[in-house]
Amino acid sequence: MKSIITLNVNGEMHEIAVNPWRTLLDVLRDDLRLTGTKRACEQGACGVCTVIMDGKAILSCLTLAMDCEGHLISTIESLASSEGLHPLQQSFIDNGAVQCGFCTPGVIMSAKALLDENPNPDDNAVKEALAGTYCRCTGHIKTVEAVKKAAGANREVK
Ligand code: FES
Ligand code: FES
Repeated sequence: MKSIITLNVNGEMHEIAVNPWRTLLDVLRDDLRLTGTKRACEQGACGVCTVIMDGKAILSCLTLAMDCEGHLISTIESLASSEGLHPLQQSFIDNGAVQCGFCTPGVIMSAKALLDENPNPDDNAVKEALAGTYCRCTGHIKTVEAVKKAAGANREVK
């Protein structure tokens, strides 16, 4: 049986009828059409579905939509503005950290949660923050570099 829930996603309130087993990932992609958040393993292994909830990076494939009421959810769609790309997005482009791009939203949202909490992370902090994300293309070195280079600019644009 469906319940009506209200979710705050990217600063907008959405009233949605959900079955109790539906995940946040299902609702973001299928109901709200926020398809920047990707779907792959749906088992918590790849990180492509990462979004931010209340400032923390979470796996939306392992999070029930019903448990997200009353929380602040941000997806990759919230990052760019009329001013342009978020510094993290620009840094990924500038530093060759995007190839096929499938993992990129999850990696960037993991990085954003880190930089919001720690604007000056060292290598280990960046690697730890990205440890739950899996990129088949870049070898991970470029993504770590891109996050570190974005750190300075991110201090000015939150
Ligand atoms: S789709 Fe969520 S961790 Fe892989
Ligand atoms: S850029 Fe292709 S999987 Fe990461």
